[in-house]
Amino acid sequence: MKDMTKHSYSAVALAAVGLMAFAGCSMQPKQASIGGSTQGGNSLSGGGQGGALLGGQGGTTDGNAGSPAAGSPGAGDTGIGGNPTGGSPTGGDLAGGSVAGGIPTGGTLVGGIPTGGTLAGGIPTGGTRTGGAVAGSSSTGGVIVGGSIAGGAKTGGTTSAGTIAGGSVAGGTKTGGTTSVGGATTSSSAPIVSCTSYTPPSAATYKIPTPMTPVDTQATQLISQMATTDQINILSGDHTTNPYATAGVAFRSLGVASLNIPNYPMRDGPRGMRNIMPGDVSTCFAVAEARAASFDLDLEYQVGNLQGREMRAAKNELALAPVINTLRHPRWARAQETYGEDPVLLGEMGAAYVRGMQQPGGCAACPKHYVLNDTDNNRMQANPNVDMQTLRENYSRPFEITVKKGDPACIMAAYNMVNGTHCTENKAILGDILRTQWGWGGFVVSDWSAAQAGHGAASINAGLDLEMPVPSAFTTLSSDLQAGTLTSATLTASATRVMNARTKFKDLDATYMASTANFSLAGAQEAVTLAERTELEGAVLLKNDGILPLGSLATTVGSGSPNAKIIAIVGPDNNLPVAPTAMQNNQKSFVSGLGDRGSSQVVAPHAVSYAQGLQAHAGGLTIKQSADSSAAAGADVVIIPVSMAHEDEGESYGGGADRQNMNLTTTHPIHWTTTLGMLPAAFIKSVAAINPNVIVLLNVGSAIIVEDWMASAKAIVQTFYPGQEGGTALAALLFGDTNFSGKLPFTVGQNEADYPQFQNSGSAAATIDYYHGYRLFEKNAKPVRYWFGYGMSYTTYSYSNPQVLCSNSTIPATGALNVQVTVQNTGKVAGDEIVQLYIGYPNTKAPKRPVKELKAFTRVTLAPGASQNVQLSIPATDTAYWDTTNNKWTVESVAHTALVGPSADPTKLLSATFTIQ
Ligand code: BGC
Repeated sequence: MKDMTKHSYSAVALAAVGLMAFAGCSMQPKQASIGGSTQGGNSLSGGGQGGALLGGQGGTTDGNAGSPAAGSPGAGDTGIGGNPTGGSPTGGDLAGGSVAGGIPTGGTLVGGIPTGGTLAGGIPTGGTRTGGAVAGSSSTGGVIVGGSIAGGAKTGGTTSAGTIAGGSVAGGTKTGGTTSVGGATTSSSAPIVSCTSYTPPSAATYKIPTPMTPVDTQATQLISQMATTDQINILSGDHTTNPYATAGVAFRSLGVASLNIPNYPMRDGPRGMRNIMPGDVSTCFAVAEARAASFDLDLEYQVGNLQGREMRAAKNELALAPVINTLRHPRWARAQETYGEDPVLLGEMGAAYVRGMQQPGGCAACPKHYVLNDTDNNRMQANPNVDMQTLRENYSRPFEITVKKGDPACIMAAYNMVNGTHCTENKAILGDILRTQWGWGGFVVSDWSAAQAGHGAASINAGLDLEMPVPSAFTTLSSDLQAGTLTSATLTASATRVMNARTKFKDLDATYMASTANFSLAGAQEAVTLAERTELEGAVLLKNDGILPLGSLATTVGSGSPNAKIIAIVGPDNNLPVAPTAMQNNQKSFVSGLGDRGSSQVVAPHAVSYAQGLQAHAGGLTIKQSADSSAAAGADVVIIPVSMAHEDEGESYGGGADRQNMNLTTTHPIHWTTTLGMLPAAFIKSVAAINPNVIVLLNVGSAIIVEDWMASAKAIVQTFYPGQEGGTALAALLFGDTNFSGKLPFTVGQNEADYPQFQNSGSAAATIDYYHGYRLFEKNAKPVRYWFGYGMSYTTYSYSNPQVLCSNSTIPATGALNVQVTVQNTGKVAGDEIVQLYIGYPNTKAPKRPVKELKAFTRVTLAPGASQNVQLSIPATDTAYWDTTNNKWTVESVAHTALVGPSADPTKLLSATFTIQ
């Protein structure tokens, strides 16, 4: 109830992913990335947007091996081996030769010097390429904006927001894209990683932009000038005025007017900045679960960074994001907001987002909800009963990684209890683990109305600093001081922590304070490109019986159903996604296809629907749409988007709730029953009877059991909620312009009964089992349909020669585990493969351990036929378990197994043995 009140107001208103390259021993590094940065890489690239090139000035427009000079080849012309210079080619294909100064539109260039278009194997010199994909080229100078280049070399010039993988980059400036973190220029020399001691891959990668310790002197000075009542005030939400009445400000805590300290404004994430007032828009990215599927830490860094800058431009100073709760069960209402089931993936993604967001020009981040907030219907009463090994390894671990590798300004304490005590007053959780053991110096905010009325002293003494959205527990702080249950030192320490975050992020700088809010970043090209990339990398191809890619109506890297000319998009969700307005976000019946309309709601400046994206992609295409199956007959392919809505899986207020089950057969999506009178499982089968070329899009936040209808779909894509550019990205993926690379951040079983208990009602203690996700399925040998880490592409990869480097199979406990495996692209098109390192514990003496668990991952880009020695490195201490006898992380001096491969599927992993001493 408390929460509903709050939100109704708003309606007005490698381990360390150690992917690093290491040279050492006899190995020569090729490429590595940690935390998203490519190190030692050699390659580059950029991309182009769509087009082709062509042409030139020459009299011979069709120019086979000719040298046309002067003249402009017309649409559809093909220049082979020519040397067009200048001109404005449109359409057509050029192979070999060079083009300088032309403005190509459409078509394909092989071996030329393109400006714009899709280039394979060319040598661009000068000029500007925007978007598109380049494989195996070298570029000297020039400007590349967006797109991707695999292989080749880039020397000088500027690349922004593109993807560069493999190859070498020398000089020049790279902004955005996969090979850089925070726009830093990447180095072409690989870092050397010792095997006897672990060194994080590069200072730049893990550099904490705004460390919370030591405390800022400006904060200390301001606190020293505050009366006790001022200190109490800044620890609470603004209860003096309506906090929702100021345009663009959702929530705020109090400032101190006499010291010219304004209120502290804060807004939600994590798929974009939350919007409250009309006209207040922000970039809508694919949801966090999709971004987790990218396993791309640099991408998440960029998302955090852009959201941070949007927040700052909107005059917002604290972002209530990211969510890093472990997805224990896929039915959790807020699954879409988090990064999946694995603690290392969660923690690394959270840290990357925080590092991006907390850069200068961004704002403070607040990872949430600490801890064990993984049911929603009873989130305010839930009382998980958890042993310390389970807590430390699986549930607080994402927070530990994010705190240590991101140093967020804030952590949000969850609604629920842990072992009988509310998180907001749980000293073991807040004071002992978070502050003392992890040594973190930020402040703790309560989830909204999570602190218990009248429990001021208990909460602040346990480690809570700021109560939102209004004081309820903290109304007692004055009397607590008088009663001696609270000391002024404790009060001042909390006030200092809050002030420290504000001064560290320059919230009190005069220029910033005098500025006005603006929302222009949302529609900017940079935001559009990044939002599209979140879906391009995050969509997961689950099944493909050869129907994809769609064929050659447009540039394609694949060969699927040739020349699909009529595409039908059918079912109640055929028009999704659409951008909601602020008002529509509050309508119960409104389905946007962009995700929840709880606290993570975003009003995007626009949204590209799947139909619009496909139509824009290929002009000659006929798109037919119907809310029933009528458009299916006679089409070449039939696409069935299936989207959940707030009422199916949405934060539990205003009609949101946990999912009632994991299938598409009995309940969800609820709006299908009301609009079509049929649920997707039955509809998919009925459409397949009319037209067998069915592609199902799962526009859903987490796992769906597909057993009873999968045979009726030739392809299944988990699009997740795809963000504002979802339609554009999906078209590029379905046609094969961009290869699929996303991999599942959770396990899709065959039976819901094989998942852990999901107790989402009442306050009776629910025992949290040690095992969940792939750990549980593997332990119980239950059938899995799609393993954690699984995802198909239009090419194939082979793995060989797994090795533990530099060790003679023995590693000091303070050292590094360096694992290498050779990965080859054995198919016909370029692709990004996500390589995963798990550690297995066949000889463990611990009371319990999973068969294996993820420890590191990286993306590598491979041209057809190319192979690469991929290296992953973790500190040996990352193999530790939480020993409840000694209350500490303990490394076992026994033989372990390093398992490397494409997913958690045990049959796909290669192994090498090592021992830690
Ligand atoms: C949610 C938080 C959110 C807060 C403010 C709560 O109900 O659980 O995630 O940050 O509201 O909107």
